[in-house]
Amino acid sequence: MRRPMVAGNWKMNGDKALVQQLLGHFKSNIRAENADVVIFAPYPFLYQAEELLSASGIEWGAQNFYIEASGAFTGEVSLGMLKEFGCKYALVGHSERRTLFGETDEMCAAKVKAALGAGVIPVLCVGETLEQRESGVTEDVVGQQVKAVLELVGAEGIGQSVIAYEPVWAIGTGKTATPQQAQDVHAYIRKVVAEQNAEVAEKIQILYGGSVNASTAEELFAMTDIDGGLVGGASLKADDFVTICKAAE
Ligand code: 13P
Repeated sequence: MRRPMVAGNWKMNGDKALVQQLLGHFKSNIRAENADVVIFAPYPFLYQAEELLSASGIEWGAQNFYIEASGAFTGEVSLGMLKEFGCKYALVGHSERRTLFGETDEMCAAKVKAALGAGVIPVLCVGETLEQRESGVTEDVVGQQVKAVLELVGAEGIGQSVIAYEPVWAIGTGKTATPQQAQDVHAYIRKVVAEQNAEVAEKIQILYGGSVNASTAEELFAMTDIDGGLVGGASLKADDFVTICKAAE
């Protein structure tokens, strides 16, 4: 049995007051006993996350990082810095980073490797665009995104990571993939990993992301290969995120 996980990706949203309010609410209402719960906060709020979530059972992490340990990389943040603020997880290759900031499969693979080396659990995001889905290449695209990482870190490396399937057309659009559409891709991702190592494939947590909300979470999480969700907009709504976590538990 895989342990479910629900992660909230706040993206570039929030302010000190909202962070205080949301994290206070999550701490009082989410037990995180039967599921891993993680909040991906913007960098400036990681200090607050550490202050407010320590000993709550809820984990926190960063939405990005740079692969080098230190040096002349103006504007970048290292994994060592994230660890100092208690980050257990970090997102890698979110579609917004791939499209808006030019992150390639190779860069994502290097980031997964760097995170594993630093002892931070990478949550590798993969997913196809609407155009790719409509032209029937979803498996090729997602398969390649996963294989690029497998080639660099092997099944052992992937086995220490989390994968999030986020179809680009479902992100922030209100258009959730149907449970069956998501299940099909999750099963395919597991198959790609199983070609390298069946045991790792069976154990790895694969989350679905893309317009998950309080009313769609339960049916998505009920699918065999869906182990939870990576939630954007609804993770900024206190009660909705709690409901989604309960659906996973
Ligand atoms: P939404 O839940 O807002 O569609 O965002 C999904 C996402 O990108 C999470 O990483």
